[in-house]
Amino acid sequence: MEKDLGSYRKEYQKSELTETSIPENPMELFQKWFYEVEEFGGTDEVNTMTLSTIGSDNFPKNRIVLLKKFTWEGFMFYTNYNSEKGKSIASNPNICLSFFWHDMERQIIIKGIAEKTSENISDGYFESRPEGSKLGAWASNQSSVIKSRKELDNSLFSFENKYKDQEIPRPSHWGGYIVKPVSIEFWQGRSNRMHDRIRYTLQKDFDWKIERLAP
Ligand SMILES: Cc1cc2nc3c(=O)[nH]c(=O)nc-3n(C[C@H](O)[C@H](O)[C@H](O)COP(=O)(O)O)c2cc1C
Repeated sequence: MEKDLGSYRKEYQKSELTETSIPENPMELFQKWFYEVEEFGGTDEVNTMTLSTIGSDNFPKNRIVLLKKFTWEGFMFYTNYNSEKGKSIASNPNICLSFFWHDMERQIIIKGIAEKTSENISDGYFESRPEGSKLGAWASNQSSVIKSRKELDNSLFSFENKYKDQEIPRPSHWGGYIVKPVSIEFWQGRSNRMHDRIRYTLQKDFDWKIERLAP
């Protein structure tokens, strides 16, 4: 099989990123871009991001997770702590997050350190989830090998019975991570492949070094 994609080509010209228009703190720019992408429209689930971890096999692995909150401190998502990503983070908390917002021709790449959120924060978010999602967190031993779809359906059924007419508690193996950034790179597509790239790097005294990178 062969398909040549050499002629797939697109010009990027929606916006620009200049040193004079950016704040000192990258979280402020993240927020600005996030809202702009939402307002621009066309991007389904603006909060989907790629999470990359290094596994015990020494390979990086990417997967999509949902950004559930961002603050001055960092970026939060929720998952199963026993999953492949959970185990990878436990042995190496250095991770990478990235966003690609196609419609506004923007990419953001965040390197950071992942830490478990407090039990209170995980409880609060778990509480807000629909019942089906709460049961799913119990029913799926995320990333484990299973024999069949039936095994999963049976597991869900047994938890539905177990928690019938009861408050569904948060499993202790399910919760949040906050990713505290050490560098954030903003990429804005420009014409002729002369894209704008601005990288913020965290300094010792908690201010950010700002540099422009060649595209
Ligand atoms: C749009 C989308 C959103 C997702 N959101 C999450 C999420 O917030 N948390 C999560 O654990 N998995 C989420 N997943 C599933 C993950 O991509 C992945 O399959 C799962 O977390 C298991 O990954 P692991 O085996 O590498 O740990 C999402 C997948 C997609 C496509």
